[in-house]
Amino acid sequence: MPTQSKTKKTSGSKTEVKSTKIDFGKKILFAASEAVPFIKTGGLADVAGALPKAYVDAGVDCRVILPLYMDIKQELKDKLQYLGNLYVNLSWRFQYCGLFKAEIDGVIYYLIDNEYYFKRSGLYGYFDDGERFAFFSKAILDCIKLMEGFVPDIIHANDWQSALVPVFLDVFYRNDDLYKNIKTVFTIHNIEFQGRYSGFISGDVLGLPDWAREYVEMSGDVNYMKGGIERANKVTTVSQTYSHEILNSYFGYGMNEILVNRQFKLTGIINGIDVKSNDPKTDGFAYVNYDLASFDKKVENKLAFQKDLGLPVDANIPMIGMVGRLTHQKGLDLLSPIITRILDMGVQLVVLGTGDYKYEEMLRGVQNRYPNNLRALVTFSAELASKIYCATDMFLMPSKFEPCGLSQMIAMRYGSLPIVRETGGLKDTVIPYDYTTGKGTGFTFYSYNAYDLLNAVERAVGMYRDYKEDWQKIVDNAMTQDFSWKNIALRYIDLYKEL
Ligand code: GLC
Repeated sequence: MPTQSKTKKTSGSKTEVKSTKIDFGKKILFAASEAVPFIKTGGLADVAGALPKAYVDAGVDCRVILPLYMDIKQELKDKLQYLGNLYVNLSWRFQYCGLFKAEIDGVIYYLIDNEYYFKRSGLYGYFDDGERFAFFSKAILDCIKLMEGFVPDIIHANDWQSALVPVFLDVFYRNDDLYKNIKTVFTIHNIEFQGRYSGFISGDVLGLPDWAREYVEMSGDVNYMKGGIERANKVTTVSQTYSHEILNSYFGYGMNEILVNRQFKLTGIINGIDVKSNDPKTDGFAYVNYDLASFDKKVENKLAFQKDLGLPVDANIPMIGMVGRLTHQKGLDLLSPIITRILDMGVQLVVLGTGDYKYEEMLRGVQNRYPNNLRALVTFSAELASKIYCATDMFLMPSKFEPCGLSQMIAMRYGSLPIVRETGGLKDTVIPYDYTTGKGTGFTFYSYNAYDLLNAVERAVGMYRDYKEDWQKIVDNAMTQDFSWKNIALRYIDLYKEL
């Protein structure tokens, strides 16, 4: 997976959110396999970049720990300060582990160095990922000894790559005074990816004694996510609706029964977005910056983008955007059968993302037949993403499942109205428009059915063309929603206080 190569330039905005201080004396170590600004393949990196920053802005001591990947940009590597090294036990293995530190924008980041595991291109997808991230999880715990006196009260682990932290902590470290009182939170960002490996690794790689193997064993396999769910003091997921959905088999990917039994410690807390870097008023990639007060200027982005993409240039053509991985999760199986019906409405659809070959090919094929209506930008680019948010009138996200989803919130902030399936975080962030009350921020459909998606697009396009006043009302509603992390950080702090 390519990583984000450009970051958005934002000129100094005066609309900075005033930070209120939170009274919470405890120290948090936030563990994630990716974090903005260092490295990103998906939404986890955005969360790991923004939530700790929100804590720090509110006066809470939160630090982030991640692997030192080869692909991290040199300018960031240049900021690293070496703290020391030790050796990590992984069953019979004895592996070198160095620890580096950097302070960026007030947040302290720790990076775990082991060239054998992390001097490779990309982040995931190697035959020994199980061993690599078992190492990462164990190294996190060992490295506390190198953190110059910082001993976390809470370790907040995320997804399967750091799910073993609560397991290792309970099995190997509890007798040590330094670790005795550490509490753990485990957040599921996507239950589809669980870190599932053949059963023999619980001994050969994780080195778990017989009595502890049940923590990670599931249907004869070793399952890292199960371990996190079993041993963490609290389990969270990134929206309330998703926290309910994963209790049943359609969404649970085999983890549903375990979660039903652990429901007492499961909560859903919606993600926010970084409202400073995702702002049409300051976005450095916009053709023309705008906000709600100067919304008239948004259309200039559409005209410029149409020209750049070689599409017919016409302000009245409804333009729909889509940004994300091209996988079944994102609803590509719903879009495929009806995409030409959407294009036949005379709209322009711009899709940005990479993913499964069959979807990339489907889009390329349709683009050949509809050169005036479809642009498939099969790549990953922060610049093109910004241009889509700025230029489009509507934003499509018909996900099969969506733990939270961040793009729909960004789209609303840019006045591109979301058309989404009512699942997970999409359901919790997009309010379907109701013309009788004037409330709502977008268009939604419920069933995982292509014709329901088509109908939702028809409703949106119809309103865009024929009911300009209603349209503007929805834009007003969408652009004035508060998606900032400030309040969300408070909800996590309340959860930590329960520990
Ligand atoms: C994963 C989920 C996405 C969520 C993100 C951050 O990428 O698929 O829905 O927004 O994690 O939590």
